[in-house]
Amino acid sequence: MDIHPDLRQVEFLIGRWVGRGSGFYPTIEPFEYLEEATYQPAPGKPHLEYRQRTRNAFTGEPLHSEAGYLRAIGPGRLELVIAQPTGVVEVHTGGLDGTHLHFRAVAVVCSPTAVEVTDVERHLEVLGDELSYRLSLAVPGRGLTPHLEARLHRR
Ligand code: HEM
Repeated sequence: MDIHPDLRQVEFLIGRWVGRGSGFYPTIEPFEYLEEATYQPAPGKPHLEYRQRTRNAFTGEPLHSEAGYLRAIGPGRLELVIAQPTGVVEVHTGGLDGTHLHFRAVAVVCSPTAVEVTDVERHLEVLGDELSYRLSLAVPGRGLTPHLEARLHRR
């Protein structure tokens, strides 16, 4: 497939990734989850389509899922937009250093009935066929605090 030249810098992300993660936050019980994520180029467009689904590692029950777009703006400049069925939408600016991508929200919008999230930070790194990421989030009265850490492998 012809991918947009600005996408070359994140080509290493393209594909289907499967693995396992751990979740935590000061207010909840820690949990373990299984995850499947895909990053697919849109022909000729400077973005990747992103889709992710998770389930409880012990019971198999569906947990979080999300979908969005990773936009390549120019050399080393990225944007990420993600929507979640919990009613949260994240808009990030970010960049990359080799195969390490980092994003910080410029806006987090929550639907009227969503649990309020005020900030999100995401780091992703691909080393060979392993994608690892960590995510921190802030809620009212609590600054950015780790929520997720996962390792996925290319399938
Ligand atoms: C792999 C992705 C994720 C998984 C598997 C996951 C799973 C969970 C689980 C099991 C809980 C505790 C029970 C519950 O309230 O449902 C939780 C709480 C929470 N999650 Fe996530 N989550 C994920 C991603 C996210 C993201 C991307 C956000 C926000 C941007 C988020 C925000 C929250 C919040 C605000 C809470 C509530 C904390 C509290 O009750 O004090 N989560 N998550």
